Amino acid sequence: MTDISLAIIGGTGVYALAQLEDAEAHQPVTAYGAPSGPIRIGTLAGKRAAFLARHGEGHSLPPHKINYRANLAALKALGATRVLAINTVGGITEAFGPRVLACPDQLIDYTWGRISTLSEEPGSEVLHVDFGDPYTPALREAVLSAAGRAGVTLVGHGCYGATQGPRLETKAEIARMKRDGCNLVGMTGMPEAGLARELGLDYACLAIVANWAAGAGPDPNEVITFDDVLANVAAASAGLPALVGAI
Ligand code: HPA
Repeated sequence: MTDISLAIIGGTGVYALAQLEDAEAHQPVTAYGAPSGPIRIGTLAGKRAAFLARHGEGHSLPPHKINYRANLAALKALGATRVLAINTVGGITEAFGPRVLACPDQLIDYTWGRISTLSEEPGSEVLHVDFGDPYTPALREAVLSAAGRAGVTLVGHGCYGATQGPRLETKAEIARMKRDGCNLVGMTGMPEAGLARELGLDYACLAIVANWAAGAGPDPNEVITFDDVLANVAAASAGLPALVGAI
């Protein structure tokens, strides 16, 4: 097993990494089951890198059905130590409008009913990992400095609120999240970040803002469509190859 310099988990609208060269597909079955799909390992900017589409390459898995434990355990088994999670999100506060890229430093978990620990099975060791800084500071720093080198504009902070989905939120839910201090809302940030910490993986989030969250934009009655989400993710992803290569 050769070390993987960076593992990337792609979210909605990011189902492949075009610049991954000579990629081979791996699909290990872990103690927690099978990952969302093939893990493609190849060369990126001269280093070994891995890519996994979180929802499956055909986007067939809703957020609450993703086997987050298997995805991360499989990446770790293949030699990954650093995971960059790409998450498509809605923007709640002013600096986080559609097509913005952000690297949040905090999160609030509003999800429920998901398996959120490795120590779920009877008899397994109970884990109480430190999670004060949910994203690994050194990897966040690497992302921010890579963005500077690659000339990619990135908001270098923010609080990610993880909701259950798969429906989008009500205006009241977003207003509450704003009062709580959330800048971004997405459906897949947890339990992924917590499980990465339990597995000892470095983990950071690159959030792609696809839309204003419900009632948060200049037109409070705007209806969010999946077509708009995908168009904004595609536009905002223009800088991704340079950014990921620089990391
Ligand atoms: N809410 C939750 N998840 C999302 C959104 C949103 O508005 N946009 C993209 N993912």
